[in-house]
Amino acid sequence: MTIQFKWAEFFDAQDIYEITDNAFIPNPYSLAQIENELKNPNYRYFIALEGKRVVGFVSYIQSIDTLDLTELAVHTDYQRRGIAQNLIQKSLEFLKPFEALYLEVRSSNFKAINLYTKLGFKKLNMRKNYYSNPEEDAIVMELKKDVVIISFESSADETSVAVVKNGNQILSNIVATQINSHQRFGGIVPEVASRHHLEWINIVLNQALKEANITNPHEQLDAVAATYGPGLVGSLLVGLMAGKTFAQINDLPFIGVNHLAGHLLAANFNRGIIYPAMALMVSGGHTELVLMEKPGNFKIIGETLDDAAGEAFDKVGRVLGLNYPAGKEMQELSKLGTVNIDFPIAKTTGTYDFSFSGIKSAVINYLHHEEQLGNSVNKNDVIASFQKAVVDALIQKTDLALSNYDVKMLVLGGGVAANEMLRNKLEEITSKHKIELNMVPIRFSGDNAAMIGAAGYQYFIDDKFSDLSLDTKPNLDFESLVDD
Ligand code: KG4
Ligand code: ZN
Repeated sequence: MTIQFKWAEFFDAQDIYEITDNAFIPNPYSLAQIENELKNPNYRYFIALEGKRVVGFVSYIQSIDTLDLTELAVHTDYQRRGIAQNLIQKSLEFLKPFEALYLEVRSSNFKAINLYTKLGFKKLNMRKNYYSNPEEDAIVMELKKDVVIISFESSADETSVAVVKNGNQILSNIVATQINSHQRFGGIVPEVASRHHLEWINIVLNQALKEANITNPHEQLDAVAATYGPGLVGSLLVGLMAGKTFAQINDLPFIGVNHLAGHLLAANFNRGIIYPAMALMVSGGHTELVLMEKPGNFKIIGETLDDAAGEAFDKVGRVLGLNYPAGKEMQELSKLGTVNIDFPIAKTTGTYDFSFSGIKSAVINYLHHEEQLGNSVNKNDVIASFQKAVVDALIQKTDLALSNYDVKMLVLGGGVAANEMLRNKLEEITSKHKIELNMVPIRFSGDNAAMIGAAGYQYFIDDKFSDLSLDTKPNLDFESLVDD
């Protein structure tokens, strides 16, 4: 006969009692105790049945966001048939939103410890003399439930869908870029961008599901995340609508994610962020120093007053006849040039603020001046000198922030985080300040949905879910994800 599984009801008390009597030699439960627990909503019993006969059970006690496994027992006639394992696995499917499950086990009970280890439990600590009769230590074990999130990103010129486990393991990350369509215009054309997103979103979604082996989204996924700002409204709409629709049809919770939080939390793909941390956020649209006192908390202490660092690269690149976006190519060309032009670093009144429009003007003035003198210009020297000026400006203010704020780690995120010179100089200043450096891996520095999955995981942990009425916020800035 096959074994079936279900949640116990009050009238199962007698059968459960018989199992405890059969299986727990030292301390059997009393029938009254089991009946009381079955009446209490914080206790839950999950049972294995052969026909009408209860042959095993697992019981849980539930607190705010954790769950303790209190007992697991299988009738002696039914052991070694994988019933214990099935009891736990099947009950956990139903207990979905719990973050962690704990249990204590006698330190000499190797059979049980092996079973729990096989199911993914890890040893957490020991409790001395936890058991009496006979007296013995307990091993506390923990099972962290995996959180698998599908995420959508379409704020600018990348259409991307990813599946990310526990905020740091990428099961798939499909990115369709439309840079080629915008290159001839020297920048993103909003109408062209949203049209592309519409064409690509379903293709990218299907590919992301396929690569991550997701065949039953409702069962295999825990939430859907999508960027709702900042970005181009017509572009944001496509990913956000796709995400909300996917959440609705698969009956999954929805999380609206701030694109900027995504850029910074993508550092988790390198290693876990240690708080309090300072972050340097450098992209095509943003340049900010952000204090992250605790997970999910973002406070801007300084920002650009005009152009973003990436924007400066792109604008100067355009003046020099390079394709959009120019940052990566300029980095390569800088290696062929010499730093021999002094482009000044702008002074700002705000201690940690930046300004890059002056460097751009200085480059244009320099080119005009040399042209008027009839001098030939070595473009690579201009690029190398410009890059040094931008990186120096970023480093100066970051260095100052690290002197004045007591943080454990510096986080680097955003498209410009791919810049090698910036990365090398950050190594130097963080080792000077004796703090850890956590830079987003270069392949996740540009826009991608995996970073939205990394941030979505943080929102998930903080219980920050969104309503399906959430609208795009093209001017969204950093905000606190959790209440102080
Ligand atoms: O974060 P991102 O992909 O898009 C925004 O959200 O803005 O950043 C794109 C920016 C572009 O301005 C690009 O020129 C710049 O990042 N970028 C670089 C490098 N790679 C990309 N800038 C400097 N050096 C690089 N290696
Ligand atoms: Zn971005």
